[in-house]
Amino acid sequence: MSDMSRYNTDFSKMAFSTRAVKLGEGPDPTTHALNTPIYETTTYAYNNTREYDQMIIDAMNWEPGCCIYSRTTNPTTMAMERKVASLENAEDACVISCGMAAVSLSLLTQLNAGDHVIANDDTFICTDSMFNDILPSKGIETTRVNILSMDAIKAAMKPNTKVIYFEALSNPLLELANIPEIAEFAHANGCKVIVDNTFVSPYIMRPLDWGADITIHSGTKYYVGHGDAICGIVAGKKEDMDKIKYYNDNLGTHISPFDAWLALRGVRTMPLRIRKQSENAMTIAKWLEQRPEVEFVLYPGLESHANHELAKKLFDPGMFGGMVCFHLKGGYEEMCAFADATKIPPIATSLGDVVTLIYPKKPYNNLIRLSCGIEDVNDLIADFEQAFEAMKK
Ligand SMILES: Cc1ncc(COP(=O)(O)O)c(C=O)c1O
Repeated sequence: MSDMSRYNTDFSKMAFSTRAVKLGEGPDPTTHALNTPIYETTTYAYNNTREYDQMIIDAMNWEPGCCIYSRTTNPTTMAMERKVASLENAEDACVISCGMAAVSLSLLTQLNAGDHVIANDDTFICTDSMFNDILPSKGIETTRVNILSMDAIKAAMKPNTKVIYFEALSNPLLELANIPEIAEFAHANGCKVIVDNTFVSPYIMRPLDWGADITIHSGTKYYVGHGDAICGIVAGKKEDMDKIKYYNDNLGTHISPFDAWLALRGVRTMPLRIRKQSENAMTIAKWLEQRPEVEFVLYPGLESHANHELAKKLFDPGMFGGMVCFHLKGGYEEMCAFADATKIPPIATSLGDVVTLIYPKKPYNNLIRLSCGIEDVNDLIADFEQAFEAMKK
């Protein structure tokens, strides 16, 4: 076998963009394939029984590189996990089937019957179901609060509170929680903090840097980035990730090797995509704010946003993300007329894709959610301008 030592470079201290491309991957030492292969295999063969028995023990201790069965571990998924752990500044990470698996496993591994969890009252609709229905039905108490109010969080704290849970930038109201302040209070009361960072991405902010214990994502969104794979991300301390891996294995929430590979391909361009999405979002948010048809715009990059100063502190310089929400003067009819008249963004749920998506949200008082893509911003603005004109006809 030829000498491959030039590929042993340690990328862990290098910048985010370098790690997004290089870390956790390298040419295959036997085939020299440069790209991480899609390991579409269910099982792994060993030379003899003793070797196999040792591998089972190592795999069940989540030792890196040990594979016995692809519900438990898979080399493609593990390559993505090494990259995620680095990008999140975490000891370890777990890549699983979807964002909801990340939400549910992060909560189920930390909470038992009789425990209590405090959660923001603005979260993704299926996460709402966890707090309003699923967890209470299993004997776990939940209290919803406005996460922007430390007084409300303090008032909700109980002796059996084990977790404070919120989305870094909430879906859909784009409320930005004060992670360091909440983490300090939680830790003083023996609680863990779980932060869903789907709307922000680790390129802009890493909740673990600000004191959160576990960060999760719908990896489907900014990690994958191209709207072609469903994926969940969990990152944190090894001890917590071992529990996540145990639940993932036993509840069967694993990701397919192909989807893990799509996520691996997507994450390499995260810095480029997010920079452009943030630029587009800022330009569009400022433009919308000036429009006479618009009642208000929610975007953390705007000075008018309630948490703009906090965003400047928590986010890496110059980026506020790709999510913009706005409300038109009028109601449902105006929202439909505008959204229907646009020609570039599809009317669709999901977010974080390279394609701009428009999501008119009737249940949220007719709020329009824009997930800004990487198209030319002048084309997007021209499209919105013609949609405003079309509304008047
Ligand atoms: C903030 C947030 N968390 C979690 C999820 C669930 O992710 P997935 O659809 O990948 O299960 C979503 C989905 O939109 C979301 O917006």
